[in-house]
Amino acid sequence: MTSAHKVRKAVIPAAGLGTRFLPATKAMPKEMLPVVDKPAIQYVVQEAVSVGLTDILMVTGRSKRALEDHFDRVPSLEATLEDKGDTAKLKAVQAATDLGDIHYVRQGDPKGLGHAVLRAKQHVGEEPFAVLLGDDLIDDRDQLLSVMIDVQAKTSGSVIALIEVEPSQISAYGCADIEEVEGEDYVRVRKLVEKPSPEEAPSNLAVIGRYVLHHSVFDVLEETEPGRGGEIQLTDALQTLAAAEGEGSGVYGVVFRGRRYDTGDKLSYLKAVVQLACASEDLGPDLRKWLTSFAAELDS
Ligand code: UTP
Repeated sequence: MTSAHKVRKAVIPAAGLGTRFLPATKAMPKEMLPVVDKPAIQYVVQEAVSVGLTDILMVTGRSKRALEDHFDRVPSLEATLEDKGDTAKLKAVQAATDLGDIHYVRQGDPKGLGHAVLRAKQHVGEEPFAVLLGDDLIDDRDQLLSVMIDVQAKTSGSVIALIEVEPSQISAYGCADIEEVEGEDYVRVRKLVEKPSPEEAPSNLAVIGRYVLHHSVFDVLEETEPGRGGEIQLTDALQTLAAAEGEGSGVYGVVFRGRRYDTGDKLSYLKAVVQLACASEDLGPDLRKWLTSFAAELDS
């Protein structure tokens, strides 16, 4: 199978400890936290399915049940809603099932994002694949993953998603040192720097949680030593691929200028919920009205 193979598989790591959300995440993965009316992970699965990635591998840890149950059918609940004639809720419940072919693999010890991705090696095989993190939600009115898939096909390398941030914010992210690629709207990544100070940052381009990777990343991950925080970092493996030559090497970046909602920490999560609720057809009008008067009260 060649590296120009079409991307069919998505890997969704959901085995982290979610320590920033404790105690809410004591018995539940943070990917199950509700964002307006569905868990964050459902947005991510729907995003993958919307670009044709119907073979999904979820990397889970403890509390795997909640994730599996969410994407499984509950015939008794569906029957009750049907009896009541509550078709809206029935549709909402069914939206989480029938999404695709969802497989699960355990990470065991959460030894880092790179380690979680490595658990997908056997399932993915020798094909390019997407990785989606539940921390970042991409508005379904904007395109990102489909563009990244095209860039992967064109370059046969690995592709990361970047956003422009205020220079003062870059220390919260992985940062990409890039060069333009003539005639193309993607960039080549020369180097990745994890959480640099604004003075050290080579750019204001921050890495966000979407990747389309060449399968050679697995071989690199197997050789990658634990890095920052004692964890096996995906960024370190990508750094190796960016500097390497030959088949499967090279890292490219797609700069995303659409709507993205960060749900990775408490404050960002709250903002994401408010933004998405304001944009929703049923809750939006009332919430916006209430928010306006609430904000006015805060100022007084
Ligand atoms: P994060 O570092 O944001 O998640 O990893 P975390 O470790 O759960 O969060 P905090 O920092 O303790 O609050 C990004 C993604 O990678 C997954 C997480 O589930 C999250 O979706 N991850 C992280 C794993 O699957 N395994 C790991 O060992 C680490």
